[in-house]
Amino acid sequence: SIGVHQTEEIQSSFTREHSSIIANSPLSIINTLYGKVNNSTTGEDANIEEDIEIKKKKIFLFACSSEALTKRLRSKTFHAILRQEIAYFDDPNNNTGALCTRLATEASAVQGATGIRIGLMLKNFASLGVGIILAFMFSWQLTLLILGFIPFLVVGSFLERYLATGFASKDKKLFEDVGKVTVESIQNIRTVVQLTKEDYFYKKYCSFLEIPYRSSIKRAYVFGLSFALANSVLYFMLAALFRLGAYLLIKNTVSFKDILSCLGCILFGAQSVGHTVSTSPDYTKAVNAAEKIFEFLNRKPIMDNSSRDGDDIPNFNGQLEFNGVDFIYPNRPESIILRNFKLKIQAGQQVALVGTSGSGKSTVIQLIERFYDANIGQLLIDSKDIRNLNLQWYRSQIGIVSQEPVLFDMSIRENIAYGNNSRNDIPMEEIIEAAKNANIHDFIQKLPQGYETNCGTKGTQLSGGEKQRIAIARALIRNPKILLFDEATSALDSENEKIVQQALDHAKKNRTSITIAHRLSTIQNADMICVLHNGDIVESGTHQELLALHSHYYQLALGKLR
Ligand SMILES: Nc1ncnc2c1ncn2[C@@H]1O[C@H](COP(=O)(O)OP(=O)(O)O)[C@@H](O)[C@H]1O
Ligand SMILES: [Mg+2]
Repeated sequence: SIGVHQTEEIQSSFTREHSSIIANSPLSIINTLYGKVNNSTTGEDANIEEDIEIKKKKIFLFACSSEALTKRLRSKTFHAILRQEIAYFDDPNNNTGALCTRLATEASAVQGATGIRIGLMLKNFASLGVGIILAFMFSWQLTLLILGFIPFLVVGSFLERYLATGFASKDKKLFEDVGKVTVESIQNIRTVVQLTKEDYFYKKYCSFLEIPYRSSIKRAYVFGLSFALANSVLYFMLAALFRLGAYLLIKNTVSFKDILSCLGCILFGAQSVGHTVSTSPDYTKAVNAAEKIFEFLNRKPIMDNSSRDGDDIPNFNGQLEFNGVDFIYPNRPESIILRNFKLKIQAGQQVALVGTSGSGKSTVIQLIERFYDANIGQLLIDSKDIRNLNLQWYRSQIGIVSQEPVLFDMSIRENIAYGNNSRNDIPMEEIIEAAKNANIHDFIQKLPQGYETNCGTKGTQLSGGEKQRIAIARALIRNPKILLFDEATSALDSENEKIVQQALDHAKKNRTSITIAHRLSTIQNADMICVLHNGDIVESGTHQELLALHSHYYQLALGKLR
């Protein structure tokens, strides 16, 4: 069966190669013949070796520069990806697979328009220009005749370029889809295996691969055909040239030598154009890729994650105030998530948010982290608009522990130390201190490799409770003024919940904290409990006060609203 596949591949490449060989060979023969005639009169054989040496150096320098360019484009693109606002990543077009594929393919595709290719194209265009000027000097009649053919040549190569462009952009989209499937299935391999969806994803992957394959076969034929057409113009030109040349010769208007020289110059130029045309698909792809990359690099993120512009607050207290905030997720403009949301949290206050699923609790947390900005109204941090603050500084003041903690594929020590990037070297004592406060130190010590134990990809080598406590240690080591807990204990069994809860209670001391809790038992001691319903606070107060109201909170406590 490999043979069958091979023949198809050979066929498609043959179509292209074949036409180019047929198109180019007579030219080179004539050129060689002409070159021989020329050499026998001037005899410049000795220069050839020197020429090759220069060529080698030229290729080397061009290659180096294009490799460096690819590297630079890649790192710039990655940097730009990291800078985009969170809403950018909500767009399905910008999911992991698509972005990774783009990063991998586009930067290297640009090579097609750089380095040696650019050099060659410059050379070729220069050759054409020089060729035409010289040809005019030998015989203007013949040259004019040839120039008449130039529009056809241009149309031919334009057609070719146009066809290749259409294919190139379609290809890109398809490969992004392929990337999506790969990343999604590998990232979620446990779920895929558990649902026994291996075959489904395999078939989906293959079907995606099939489309670019089919289109590339089609392209090979179309490309071969248009290439042949574009080049056939050259033969008609030659025929006309010989006819007129013979006529002029009989009329004694030009000498035989002039015809030959004119022909040589023109062929020299024409061959250069042919060369340029034959490298145009790569070139088009490259130009397309470059366009996309620069478009992306020039994209100004609505909110620049890496920005250090704006103010720091010198004696930051951790006071928060939502001042009539309306919020809509940019990718779902039809539903208003928060409506005229008002909430004031004093420095050091422990606030709990409760409410049915989908009532907007996590959204409030995301606004506090400034993953999104309010559409209407303001979020004030120590009485300053959050949008005027230095984002990097502000985020460093916040610790967050969510339901599904994400650990990186590195040691426990590094995972904890990642919480604090104000310094490069976090002393071991501080890490241990944070671990102790998070109730995880004893566990870590019992591990054979202690703090150097690897957490595995996404922390898969630890249990939920252990991961959660490491995440708490990571939040604590930055000594944040504001702590956010988004259902931090919801995924845990009651035994683990107790241990994690202890760690949380300890962490909340002397800090502003906002806790989202599923089980009301965990937030009974909060200074203020806010009940959210459809993006609005419907009641707030202490546990006792709210119970006495016999309303939303009471219903929640009885489990009726769930
Ligand atoms: N990234 C997002 N893009 C669009 N809609 C979202 C996004 N995140 C949450 N939502 C929607 O916002 C509403 C509130 O969600 P959320 O704040 O997560 O609720 P809760 O945490 O209270 O369960 C839900 O209807 C949810 O579908
Ligand atoms: Mg939530």
